[in-house]
Amino acid sequence: MLIAVGVSGGIGAYKAVEVVRGLQRRGHDVVAVMTANATRFVGPITFEAITRRPVITDQFEAGANADIEHIAIASTIDLLIIAPATANILGKLANGIADDFLSTLYLATRAPVLVAPAMNTQMFAHEAVRSNLDALAARGVRFVEPGEGYLACGWIGKGRLAEPDEIVAAAEDVLRPRGPLRSQRVLVTAGPTYEDVDPVRYLGNRSSGRMGFAIAGEAARRGAEVTLVAGPTSLDPPPVRELVRVRSAEQMHAAVLGRADDMHVVVMAAAVADYAPIEPSDQKVPKGGDTVTMVLKKTPDILAELGRRRIASGGGPLLVGFAAETERVVAHAAAKRESKHADLFVANDVSRADAGFGVDTNAVTIVGPDGSETLPLQSKSRVAIAILDRIEALLTAHPAKTSG
Ligand code: C5P
Repeated sequence: MLIAVGVSGGIGAYKAVEVVRGLQRRGHDVVAVMTANATRFVGPITFEAITRRPVITDQFEAGANADIEHIAIASTIDLLIIAPATANILGKLANGIADDFLSTLYLATRAPVLVAPAMNTQMFAHEAVRSNLDALAARGVRFVEPGEGYLACGWIGKGRLAEPDEIVAAAEDVLRPRGPLRSQRVLVTAGPTYEDVDPVRYLGNRSSGRMGFAIAGEAARRGAEVTLVAGPTSLDPPPVRELVRVRSAEQMHAAVLGRADDMHVVVMAAAVADYAPIEPSDQKVPKGGDTVTMVLKKTPDILAELGRRRIASGGGPLLVGFAAETERVVAHAAAKRESKHADLFVANDVSRADAGFGVDTNAVTIVGPDGSETLPLQSKSRVAIAILDRIEALLTAHPAKTSG
């Protein structure tokens, strides 16, 4: 996430450096914005060095207005933090005064705003400041209350800037997703399976795992507790709660079935082999005649088994399947959705060169309980967003009945 840390001119300005570092430690990108007075307490170079970005100090600075990034900050940030916020900046924010970059950014951004006030105890208690705080709270601004103790001005009381850790924790809370997938347990399968023929050969398929990884990553961003069951793939997995590496359909079956009862959602994006050698040979099979016959056995259909379980128990996770097809794509997906008792089926035309296996883009049709929706060709991460939007809509309409 990109976070703007606005620093106004209070003695606590030095603590904003620790706030920036704390946010960076949690993986956020930070841009610092300083008021003119703030620069009298801490040098902009300190923030520039730790954020590795130019520090915005003045909206009318010569040269800075050609810098698109600087102008675009208002629409690209995910959160605006103001720490410390003086009585002066609070007064400006509450009254819509925009006479420097920070106060203008507050009006221009639609990102959530988190304010950590810091001032002398008497000022903090003053009716003018209280009413500005009330006005900002009524507009949805969130606060990190100042601490009590010795203030730099010699007073003892409330007004000292909250500790950096507290401000960072409050920021994380504001950024935490609040949609229906938050705290839901989601299992996603991804990639191909490899069915061993002998110690050097296997039967596999062209799935790269990109679609499943994109779904797992997006579900985690929405606050879900994600278990990713991945077949052999060279991609870096997204950050998830649990990563289970498997090789064969049999192993994927065990990994999924052993966890499915605890899940709210299961997305089977893996291209699971339908057939596997009856028994892989212990030794490399020697080259023989001109042709060779291999007898294969059907692998367990994981999704169909989950579907049968839900019919038998009347509960269980929401089920999403994928159908990689080369013809009558949507009709086949709709039939599979019925026969496997899934909620959604994502139909995928793998005969197109720009969609399906091994590429970054995908063109899919999502078949659901009330018909189907065809999405344009787009990146797999955008397709993942669309699929999770559909899953969230279904979760809101019919919360999953799990045992856990
Ligand atoms: O019937 P078909 O294999 O085309 O169905 C595809 C869907 O079923 C995918 O979601 C895939 O992950 C899942 N599947 C499965 N177990 C298998 C084969 C496919 O769960 N053995």
